[in-house]
Amino acid sequence: MKVEWNPRFREIDDTYLFAKTAALARACAAKHPERRVISLGIGDVTRPLPSVAVNAMMNAAREMGEEPSFRGYPPDGGYPFLRAAISAHYRRFGAQVSVDDIFASDGTKSDLGNFYDILGSTPVLLSNPVYPVWRDAGILAGASIGFLTGRPENGFLPTPEGLPDRPFVICLCSPNNPTGSAFTYDGLGAWVSFARRTGSLILMDAAYSAFVGRGMPRTVYEIEGAETCAVEFGSFSKMAGFTGVRCSWTVVPHALDGGIPRALGARRQSTKFNGVGYITARGAEAVLSDGGRVQCNANIAYYRENAGMLTDLLTQKGIPFTGGKHAPYVWFRTPRGTSSMQAFTYLLEEAGVVSTPGSGFGEAGEGYLRLTAFASHADTQEAVSRLQTVLC
Ligand code: MLT
Repeated sequence: MKVEWNPRFREIDDTYLFAKTAALARACAAKHPERRVISLGIGDVTRPLPSVAVNAMMNAAREMGEEPSFRGYPPDGGYPFLRAAISAHYRRFGAQVSVDDIFASDGTKSDLGNFYDILGSTPVLLSNPVYPVWRDAGILAGASIGFLTGRPENGFLPTPEGLPDRPFVICLCSPNNPTGSAFTYDGLGAWVSFARRTGSLILMDAAYSAFVGRGMPRTVYEIEGAETCAVEFGSFSKMAGFTGVRCSWTVVPHALDGGIPRALGARRQSTKFNGVGYITARGAEAVLSDGGRVQCNANIAYYRENAGMLTDLLTQKGIPFTGGKHAPYVWFRTPRGTSSMQAFTYLLEEAGVVSTPGSGFGEAGEGYLRLTAFASHADTQEAVSRLQTVLC
């Protein structure tokens, strides 16, 4: 064949981080059939869907089965009832987000990756460590990428200190994947001030915001002026257990650059995406109802207990860590200064526990591991007792 394939694929790893760790976990399970492998690796939820969402989706499925209430393609941007529910969700945090500025979608992973379609040549700054989709999708899009290397002293949350006064596209994630750190009002405020002063754009990955406790910003739009400089990505995956249902949203405010990115975002979306289906949209709407929020909060509290078990273990072992408080991830130094990959293999082989090697999130993640709090209580307890004996 004489076809030329996209050469940029040579610049990223052959296998996506979590596909690679899943394959290694499967190989270990096959080698040790006597011991069950426990995954504290990929951040996938285990609590069942809130019953209000299940009921709403069952009703919606029935509507789809009747001629008068059958629906085909969803409207551009998403069903108005879902966008209105998302706008009301922001109002609860004191943030004004207009229904027209919300685009419903199928997941933050696609939303982040696809946003590169509308960016030009402005340099993109990624945190280091970073959720690998930001990096890989940026490379595939040919973006000019620079890194903001986090320091353990500030929980790996980048600051604008020392950056030249020029426009950048700044990708932030709070609470952070992978480090579990979350921005304070001051920390996020510093980025909004920088972006406003320099004409930069903030792309805020808020997929884990449901884990943020009181006294911390739940959305970038709690910061004054953010609507003039920030896009935000939100998700039902971790908030409501929708990893297997798929629903998310992006806020592209009309106040941003005279409405240009909102127009381009709408154009991109209508070219490449046919929208969130009615059944899913009704389920997501129900999640944001009063009853839905109570059920979601119960699941978040459940995962927080798991995070507590993991951080108690690390505290008891004297191993420094970040996260676990405002996030479902715990990030810690590998034992005895081993590399991330060596430590990942050691925990897998010796304890049958799957973690995620920090090096998969970038150079600054080398020498760290990430554990997720999304397993069941029983699995988390079992993993903690196995890790007791192998972590030192
Ligand atoms: C994670 O574990 O970081 C993500 O949930 C996995 C992914 O989005 O691929």
